[in-house]
Amino acid sequence: MAKATDFRYNTGATKVPWAAVGENYNVNDLMEVIKFLMQGEGAEYEEAIKAVQAQVEKLDKISTPPGKLSLASKVEAAEADSNEYLGIDSSTFVTNATSGFEIAYKYANLKAGDEVIVPAITFVATMAYPLAIGCKLVFADVDPVTINMDPADVARKITPKTKMIVPVHIGGYPVDMDPILELARKHNILVLEDAAHAFGAMYKGKKIGTIGDFAAFSFHEVKNITSFGEGGIVTTTIPEFKDHIKRARFFGLDFSRKIKDWLYDVSAMPGKEEPFVAVNYSTTEIQALGLSLQIARNEQIIAERRRAAEYLNSRLAGNPAIIPQDLGNEDIKPTFHLYQLQIDPDKAGGDIQVLKKKLEEKSVTSIPHFGPLYRFRVVQQMGYDSDEIAKTCPVCEEVFYKRFTHLPLYGLSDEQLEYMADAILEAVDEMQRGV
Ligand SMILES: Cc1ncc(COP(=O)(O)O)c(C=O)c1O
Repeated sequence: MAKATDFRYNTGATKVPWAAVGENYNVNDLMEVIKFLMQGEGAEYEEAIKAVQAQVEKLDKISTPPGKLSLASKVEAAEADSNEYLGIDSSTFVTNATSGFEIAYKYANLKAGDEVIVPAITFVATMAYPLAIGCKLVFADVDPVTINMDPADVARKITPKTKMIVPVHIGGYPVDMDPILELARKHNILVLEDAAHAFGAMYKGKKIGTIGDFAAFSFHEVKNITSFGEGGIVTTTIPEFKDHIKRARFFGLDFSRKIKDWLYDVSAMPGKEEPFVAVNYSTTEIQALGLSLQIARNEQIIAERRRAAEYLNSRLAGNPAIIPQDLGNEDIKPTFHLYQLQIDPDKAGGDIQVLKKKLEEKSVTSIPHFGPLYRFRVVQQMGYDSDEIAKTCPVCEEVFYKRFTHLPLYGLSDEQLEYMADAILEAVDEMQRGV
């Protein structure tokens, strides 16, 4: 019997295959792809491109096109690579982390009025689906050091209507998962890890993304590793859902069951309490190939990022106004997606907004991208009162407006890192001197 795959049109070897009934890429198309991925100009570049074109033309005569461009062996291989890396068996490659979240949210059978606890500081993707369907978002305050969801505030904000808790490992720094899981089990609440920044992070010997009921990683272009700009892996630890998660990516097609005179059946996905209908989050073979190649060097990438964070810490630690990035310990191993720069405004002679402005003047990029979600207009437009919510998240208000920003960590030369450390120290010195 065929396995319950969602891989389309995979009818096996035939004389007349219908595996690829669309247009293939020709030499000209491929040259444009190469020129896009390896951009340049000038005589030397043009000469190299000509030489490559001659070889691609040769290859064209002796090669065959891949046959399938979507959901086939490369997607399976990327999922196997992710499984091996994470030590699990449920990795499913989807269009992005946001669609992975949707699968988890749909499994939870969320309905209007149900409550979902998200951290006050994250990216809009974390809350988009529950907000869109009329759930009540409850914003948990954050820990002042890690700026991750504070489990103690989650405990205060759980009600009988809470259906999900969504810890976000911001910047790749693991959330303290044990107390969150304990609360969730006690109250029969599902946990979805937003592991968008955290592919490869560890919490107490376990890989992040393998701890909650569901998790999703992002391979969007600005993450530590990417699958050609977009992509996500969704995982589950729910034994009854593992066999269905792949079908949840593609309408619930089931090739293991056929209905009369048809190639497959389509069935609803089993949800926590009732079935739900799956839609389409399919990914391409090219994206999957890109993901496999980068998963293979993820550890090296994390190590390089760690070295950059260690360097910044070594330069900044001596200044009492600066609170350097927590590098983790035996139990906590971050991915160093971003460097979290915090200051003590009293000692620095000003708050982070002043420092951000000074860094901008010194042409050092900071990334004020993760902030209080409840300030967005869309949240107000859905009927929330931002100022009332802010009163329930005092730490978030303090750290976002006064204490932290994020800095980039990767792809920087030693000179750039040195310049960044110098600029931060100089800027704080200026603030302290009131200039
Ligand atoms: C914290 C967080 N969650 C979720 C996402 C969404 O990831 P994706 O773009 O893969 O949907 C992002 C992306 O930037 C993010 O930063």
